Amino acid sequence: MLIVRTKKELAKQLEITPPQKTLGLVPTMGALHKGHESLVRMAVEQNDATVVSIFVNPTQFDKKEDLEKYPKTLQADIALLQKVSDEIIVFAPSAEEIYGTDIKSKAYDFDGLDQVMEGAFRDDHFNGVGTIVETLFQLVKPHRAYFGEKDFQQLQIIKKLVQIRNIPVEIVPCPIVREANGLALSSRNERLSPELRQKAGLIYQTLKSAKKAFGTKSVDEIKEQVKESFAPYPDLQLEYIEISEAETLVPAREINGHRKYRAFIAVYADGVRLIDNIALN
Ligand code: PAJ
Repeated sequence: MLIVRTKKELAKQLEITPPQKTLGLVPTMGALHKGHESLVRMAVEQNDATVVSIFVNPTQFDKKEDLEKYPKTLQADIALLQKVSDEIIVFAPSAEEIYGTDIKSKAYDFDGLDQVMEGAFRDDHFNGVGTIVETLFQLVKPHRAYFGEKDFQQLQIIKKLVQIRNIPVEIVPCPIVREANGLALSSRNERLSPELRQKAGLIYQTLKSAKKAFGTKSVDEIKEQVKESFAPYPDLQLEYIEISEAETLVPAREINGHRKYRAFIAVYADGVRLIDNIALN
């Protein structure tokens, strides 16, 4: 396993990889779990070489406190990656190495994709994501890059980024990995008490019942049904439930049978913010 800390070392390593070989990139913020692992496995299977970046990107956090609280578990991350393949190149730079002394994001026009849901609730978040992912694409020049559907809005934004910046990379979407009770894996799940972690399976249960109701109930009725399922649980506070067209993320009013829709949800579980989503058709 090769761990590189600087852009220079990374460039040197990548020079060794002959250009005809394919290179996969998995961008992460570390605190790796089986969700990340599934992306890495796919990258290793599909490419001759794989870079996994581990970088807690300061520009995508709107609250300083969240950034400071973000878990840093590099040794455990390396052990997890080692189990997948010991040929992975781990790129774990410092914030200064990436941004210099001027830690700020670029401003992108994501065509409205960043105006809804996570973008509406987290100020400037997607400009920060776009900035770091574009930088990683420039540094690594991967043939393929892997993103989880767990963060479906992020995935759509990265596809848009690649389109507007004309970056020659294939974006590979990866399915959501879940705990036994359906809760989507996230490093934040560690912050829940065992009881609440169990209870938080309700998030996925409500998404599944939304899927079941899709086609028979109206959008508003489905949203109401989800809201009602949380009402008896004061420690699971629904922030939003949205039903949107999957490509544009425009909130649906009525359903057009030719389009694809997804339900998106954000819930505070005792102060810990959890997100999830599901394909409805
Ligand atoms: P992070 O939260 O570490 O997630 C890294 C990648 O793992 C993302 O593409 C995310 O969607 C995926 N992922 C996380 N949990 C998953 C799960 N349960 N199932 C499937 N995939 C999952 O997302 C980020 O980091 C950052 O915003 C980043 C893209 C690295 C830019 O800083």
